[in-house]
Amino acid sequence: MIYVHIPFCDSKCFYCNFCSAKYDEKIKEKYFKKLVEEIKFNSNKYKNITSIYIGGGTPSSVNEKYIKLIINELKNNFNIDKNAEISIEANPCSITESKLKTYKQIGINRISIGVQSLNNKQLKIIGRRHTKKQAINAIKIAKKYFNNVNCDLLIGIPNQNYLSLKHSVKCLLKQKINHISAYMLICENGTKLTKQIEQKQVKVASEDKCVDYYNKIVKYLKGKKYYRYEISNFALLGYECKHNLGYWNLTDYYGFGLSAHSYIDGFRYNNTTDMQEYLESKFDYQKEEISNEEKIEELIMLSLRTQKGVNINELKNLGYDILKQKGNVLNSLKDFINVSQNYISIKDNKFGVCNQIILDLLP
Ligand SMILES: C[S@@+](CC[C@H](N)C(=O)[O-])C[C@H]1O[C@@H](n2cnc3c(N)ncnc32)[C@H](O)[C@@H]1O
Repeated sequence: MIYVHIPFCDSKCFYCNFCSAKYDEKIKEKYFKKLVEEIKFNSNKYKNITSIYIGGGTPSSVNEKYIKLIINELKNNFNIDKNAEISIEANPCSITESKLKTYKQIGINRISIGVQSLNNKQLKIIGRRHTKKQAINAIKIAKKYFNNVNCDLLIGIPNQNYLSLKHSVKCLLKQKINHISAYMLICENGTKLTKQIEQKQVKVASEDKCVDYYNKIVKYLKGKKYYRYEISNFALLGYECKHNLGYWNLTDYYGFGLSAHSYIDGFRYNNTTDMQEYLESKFDYQKEEISNEEKIEELIMLSLRTQKGVNINELKNLGYDILKQKGNVLNSLKDFINVSQNYISIKDNKFGVCNQIILDLLP
């Protein structure tokens, strides 16, 4: 798996805490040059790559020549499987037919569009620059070129209630996309939205209400055959995102670009989050060995968020006999979890409180 970070956006959304900003064309040019260097530096023709994810930031905000450059470089330096899933993130304001044509030509086969909401008032409040109409139009043109289209939605944005959330979901389903990511809004420290909430300029629904909206949406989507395969991810059967599934199963991955990290053979490598430092970098990554304990924790934290749950034998192989060591806890959680021979998973209607369950099951 390969992740490529494109830290460029045309504007910063009020809730966003990702490593992204508005930069001028000169920086973009230098950045992509460095990215090519980084890919070459890590070249490994023996690695079979089954998924590539170009995320950000907003990859669709940059000229398509840069995306072409990066994909070509990856093809020259890695063994990209002929059935690899190759995704790119896009914003409704910057998707164009010309970009989509190029993406298709270079082998990209999945588009993930940041929609967030299909209510104009809500979009404005969270600092999105597009309207409902522009978002629907973007999906329509993406569908012209790609079968595999995801849209991101947010749950818990100011002014949202269940009906308006359902309305957004309904409008997306009408477009016959095959994947929806619906994230609970996290109000991160330092973002404009968090400041507005603190200053009581805007109001968000309580956590309990958001969990209620979430549970209802899960049910609604299930009725439409969009199955939750991870806490925030819903797909028609067969359209689950391979790249996402890889992360949750602790598959090795390379991460290239500003703020990206890699996980290879039990080591994590972290890139700087400082643009100038990245542009001058000699790729002497900060490297840390992932201890057995951390592997156990990560496996529990990531795989319990999936529908399938955590593999009991895999934990045993890492030295954690969860059935023995957490017998009492498992017993007290029996209304919240399913325990089968091989897997522990969270019950369908308990995903809203999965963080607490996960904490209880850590060694
Ligand atoms: C890396 S962002 C890329 C967004 C995309 N470039 C766009 O313009 O919409 C990927 C997704 O993360 C989600 N996200 C970003 N900030 C979030 C937050 N504070 N809480 C929850 N989800 C968030 C959004 O749904 C977003 O579409």
